[in-house]
Amino acid sequence: MEDIQHNIIQFLEQYASFIPESYWPIISLSLAAILIVGGLLQRILSAWFGFTSFFKSLFGTKTRSSVLAPKRARVLREVWLRERSMGSIEPMEKPDVSTPIISFINMKGGVGKTTVAANVGAHLETKGARVLFVDFDYQGTLSLMVASSMNKDRLDANSYLLLEDRPYSEVRQHIHRFDGHPNIGLLAAHYILFRDEMELFANWAADGSSYDIRFAMKRILHDPLCQNDWDIIIIDCGPRFTTSTINALCASTHVVIPVILDEPSAQAVGYLSKEFEEHRAELFPYLNLLGVIPTMIDQDPPNRRVPKFKPSELEQLEAVEDAVSDTWHREGLVLRNARIPDRSSISQHSDQIAYYVSGEARRVFKRATGILLRRLKDENYRTDWKD
Ligand SMILES: Nc1ncnc2c1ncn2[C@@H]1O[C@H](COP(=O)(O)OP(=O)(O)OP(=O)(O)O)[C@@H](O)[C@H]1O
Ligand SMILES: [Mg+2]
Repeated sequence: MEDIQHNIIQFLEQYASFIPESYWPIISLSLAAILIVGGLLQRILSAWFGFTSFFKSLFGTKTRSSVLAPKRARVLREVWLRERSMGSIEPMEKPDVSTPIISFINMKGGVGKTTVAANVGAHLETKGARVLFVDFDYQGTLSLMVASSMNKDRLDANSYLLLEDRPYSEVRQHIHRFDGHPNIGLLAAHYILFRDEMELFANWAADGSSYDIRFAMKRILHDPLCQNDWDIIIIDCGPRFTTSTINALCASTHVVIPVILDEPSAQAVGYLSKEFEEHRAELFPYLNLLGVIPTMIDQDPPNRRVPKFKPSELEQLEAVEDAVSDTWHREGLVLRNARIPDRSSISQHSDQIAYYVSGEARRVFKRATGILLRRLKDENYRTDWKD
């Protein structure tokens, strides 16, 4: 309190010497008290009611990503955005697709992208949907989860086919199918995908491709034959902006952003939002954000079904909300009610799809998927497949 008062007196000395000195102690005391009470009030209100954004809008202290793109990173951006000069010009009208194509994406690693994608897909399968999984992360985590849940020992890595100039009728023959799960398909990935996508990019950037690699997957997945084969397509993206990620975004109707509510993960959403802004108009103008799903929320007390956000998590939630509402010009994109708790029943089964083995995981992902489906239904996509 005394420090604050001292600073205020210094300020008065410098800028308000016209005020008689005898008033300074009372002015500084009152201002210090206002600052302290105001600060306390903000903390209390934000903890209780999540009012942080109200204060932020008053004082203009929006949390923004502190990661700045260095000049040289612009070059890559220019390459991705360059005139569509090669191969056929890609039409940019609104895609006429009946099957939602959803990319699970975040530039931050380990936030639960693959876990959410796999379990959402598993719930959709039990609702009768024909689900095509596309693993576009060379770590191959989704491929391993699906394979072990389907009792498969070995799978060829084949999602790179979606980056090549091939018709869907050809890719279709390579989709992995599984006994006992006729409605699931998988295009799998492994570390070799990294080399494949680098090669494809290098070729294209050097004008050596006969087709535009940014839209290879779009051409394949938007094929009416593919749309007829699948009710929903789920793409698991790696935490990087590579050829496969660009393809995923150009092909997708929606993105879902899983996020842990800590500062680095919230900042990553800010960075991702900037990437979207930079590329959207030219590459994926009709891509929608289906929602941000907070993941691995601490359970305290542990037996609560739907975990309560802690004040620190609420603060990050607000930062994420700011970042995505600025980019997508809409509110309500953070799906608070779809939040996924941090549960050992999920982490214990990280090498398979927890949904198939744990009742708790089933409940959690059923709720989250239900919220995503309501959003798709609002956009007139089909969301009940059993009839
Ligand atoms: N709700 C949860 N509760 C407990 N553990 C979880 C939960 N969600 C994910 N995990 C665990 O967190 C780890 C990271 O999850 P996951 O692989 O889905 O993240 P990711 O974002 O796909 O990571 P990467 O960026 O490496 O692809 C895994 O070990 C997973 O089992
Ligand atoms: Mg992953």
